[in-house]
Amino acid sequence: MPLLDTNLIRQDFPILGRTVRNGKKLVYLDNAATSQKPLVVLDAERNFYLNHNAAAHRGAHLLAEEATDAFEGARAIVADFISAQSSEIIFTKSATESINVVSYGFSNHLSKGDPFYISKDNNIVVTQLEHHANLLPWQQLAKRSGATLSWLGITADAQIDISNIDSMINDKTKIVAITHQSNVSGAITQLEPIVKRAREVGAMVLLDACQSVPHMPVDVNKLNVDFLTYSGHKAVGPTGVGVLWGRSELLEKMEPMITGGSMIDHATIESATWAKAPKKFEAGVPNMAQAVGLGTALKYLTKIGMDKIQSHEEILVAKALTGLQDISGVEIIGSKSLLNRGSAISFTLEGVHPHDVGQVLDDYGIAVRTGHHCAWPLMQELKLNATTRASFYLYNTPEEVDIFLNGVREVKKFFKV
Ligand code: ALA
Repeated sequence: MPLLDTNLIRQDFPILGRTVRNGKKLVYLDNAATSQKPLVVLDAERNFYLNHNAAAHRGAHLLAEEATDAFEGARAIVADFISAQSSEIIFTKSATESINVVSYGFSNHLSKGDPFYISKDNNIVVTQLEHHANLLPWQQLAKRSGATLSWLGITADAQIDISNIDSMINDKTKIVAITHQSNVSGAITQLEPIVKRAREVGAMVLLDACQSVPHMPVDVNKLNVDFLTYSGHKAVGPTGVGVLWGRSELLEKMEPMITGGSMIDHATIESATWAKAPKKFEAGVPNMAQAVGLGTALKYLTKIGMDKIQSHEEILVAKALTGLQDISGVEIIGSKSLLNRGSAISFTLEGVHPHDVGQVLDDYGIAVRTGHHCAWPLMQELKLNATTRASFYLYNTPEEVDIFLNGVREVKKFFKV
């Protein structure tokens, strides 16, 4: 598939036309942290507040009706985007919150036969590749319940090591929480054997899809997992909205993390019973404008085509990987080819601290992320304190890859390495 028409696409993202650092053209390569937003998304949020703002699912007046329709319309789009049912989509404020919702769904106060009952006789399986968002909630659950936290390691090319899944995922395992695509190495998880093993032992699987859903076609039916989470702001949507998808039979049984308004079936002064999902998990006036913005963002991506976006990024990533390998002293973390990798490329440059690399690149108008990327266990395994990370999206161009590669060469000249 050819490159996307970025001349056209970039017109939708005015921020990409601005200059930074003494008139340098902005080259935005920090998309794994957050994406830029097209005008249609900004317009959708503004239009919601300008014309339809009211508390969804509350009130009998026209505005409340319109706000409800807009919010539920967004849910339908979000569901469609990953081939799910609307009732299986829960709006949260972030993917981090989504993962916490599931981790707090488990409790040792439940009866033993409950799928969310957890005790010291269970284990929770994560991986060394996880972002803290998909690690700390499970550490906390292990502390609360007495369950054991265990983890799959990584291979030499920073993929999840599945060589010992048969022993690691066993009949004590309650849940396997794994990334779909690493925010550091870009590694795309080979899910099938992990999901197959989890099914064999009756464990649930939660997929952190923050770095995959915005960048490739994702169909929850094909993945065969139990929960999937991602954040809106990485998918050209607004901040303040995350998605939790869960299998309906599990959502019906899972306890809510947050309780309050508009999530009950019945309430008395002493106790309450819960409404059906997704309402049960959405206490309080929801993030309606953000949900509407996300719905518009996903429509925007769908119109371009997720398969086309993925191919476009692959062309850029292939060019960046080849170019980086031609620069002496650069070490790419993880796969050096397109095999099982997405568009986040982390690297080190011998003799230069990643923060210095980032600062010099910034002088050239190039925005990358530097640091530990909220993945300390991975950094510890790689024996690194930090890396520099460039990450690409639908609006980036091959010319920007060249500017980035030249930038890295300038870093070398600046530090004389
Ligand atoms: N999780 C985001 C990143 O990797 C913020 O940069």
